[in-house]
Amino acid sequence: MAKTIQAIRGMNDILPNQTPAWQYVEGILRQLAAAYTYQEIRMPVVESTELFKRSIGEVTDIVEKEMYTFDDRNGDSLTLRPEGTAVCVRAGNEHGLLYNQTQRLWYMGPMFRHERPQKGRYRQFHQFGLEAFGMEGPDIDAEVILFSARLLNELGLGQHVELQLNSLASNEARAAYRAALREFLRSHEEALDEDSKRRLDTNVLRVLDSKSPQTQALLVNAPKLSDYWDDASRAHFSGLTQRLDHAGVRYVLNERLVRGLDYYNRTVFEWVTTDLGAQGTVLAGGRYDGLVEQLGGKPTAAVGFAMGMERIVLLLEALEQLPAAASLDLYVLGADEQAELMALSVAEQIRDMAPWLSVQNHSGSQALKKKLQKADKSGAERALVIFADEQGLRFELKHLRERELAAVEFNDINQLTSYL
Ligand code: HAM
Repeated sequence: MAKTIQAIRGMNDILPNQTPAWQYVEGILRQLAAAYTYQEIRMPVVESTELFKRSIGEVTDIVEKEMYTFDDRNGDSLTLRPEGTAVCVRAGNEHGLLYNQTQRLWYMGPMFRHERPQKGRYRQFHQFGLEAFGMEGPDIDAEVILFSARLLNELGLGQHVELQLNSLASNEARAAYRAALREFLRSHEEALDEDSKRRLDTNVLRVLDSKSPQTQALLVNAPKLSDYWDDASRAHFSGLTQRLDHAGVRYVLNERLVRGLDYYNRTVFEWVTTDLGAQGTVLAGGRYDGLVEQLGGKPTAAVGFAMGMERIVLLLEALEQLPAAASLDLYVLGADEQAELMALSVAEQIRDMAPWLSVQNHSGSQALKKKLQKADKSGAERALVIFADEQGLRFELKHLRERELAAVEFNDINQLTSYL
């Protein structure tokens, strides 16, 4: 026997028994996006490597060690997109969607990061992302966060997630803070974990994210980013929190929330759960006012987020928040060879007159008893048995789930819906 071929580690099939959960989530996303007037954009999965280096940042985990990068047959360096924001900006610049206008966009699709796979963390995963361009004020930050709050509430997850909020302020404020943090950490370098030591020079803000308890303990006395906020960023943040307060959205300020991508300024936020183990961030984003210009466009304010679809589906499963699977309405079978000839066209007639019904045809020639067993196994609510004789067709509609109910018989298929 030939050896079977397996999927790539960290890249999962989404099987037929899982797709209803995905479709349920996707349905809510689409409906909300329309309600908030965000338009869909569909973008390539492969982009030039340069795009991600210039946007996410050369010394981030993603660019340093997680990208699927390869030379194509022309020798160009290409990368499977690790995220959608940079791609969205690239597309917006390329097609003139961003200059001197506002845009509300969303996208959904696979992203690729070569991380160590574990529950909630995969090498191919899916994001729903939302990006708003050309709006500077804190009202749009609030809108984007309200969207995310409504989304999580509609999914029934509101009680299981917490909104964490921070401001990374301006580039200048952050640079000053970085210097102060570096100086502080240097004076305690011996107490730092190896990763944090390395980050001292390359990306010192990420030390705030360190998982090491010893480093975290050290950070208690470290300088605080909010002490370095510039006035405009402080006002922006206060404008945001006031709006969230008015809308009744609760949040916690997390001074150490810095995000793993370099393009952010001012607002950053994450929705976090404790119900998923280590990979608890289900949705994350923030403002990135410098990115459009950094990628060759005109200065354009921007804010957005992305949600990890796998994590949402896992959470819905863990909390048993998924709607019951849709059942099959009708299983159609011919009682004998003569009736079998008619079964497909009868099913077509049913689909014409009652398009909302799910109808499955029996396939194959077997004894009636066997066919009825198949009907039962299909999970259908009812079986429609077709009999054919000289007088024409006769139908018997049997209840498969409530057997105590009597079957009904009729001669005209148009009567079917009155018995359902
Ligand atoms: P991110 O924090 O890198 O941000 O990813 C957003 C979300 O994608 C995470 O919170 C998580 O739910 C999910 N995610 C990330 N990596 C994985 C993985 N390996 N497996 C499963 N899920 C994962 C961004 O990507 C930004 N582009 C978000 C954004 C949009 N900021 C502004 N606009």
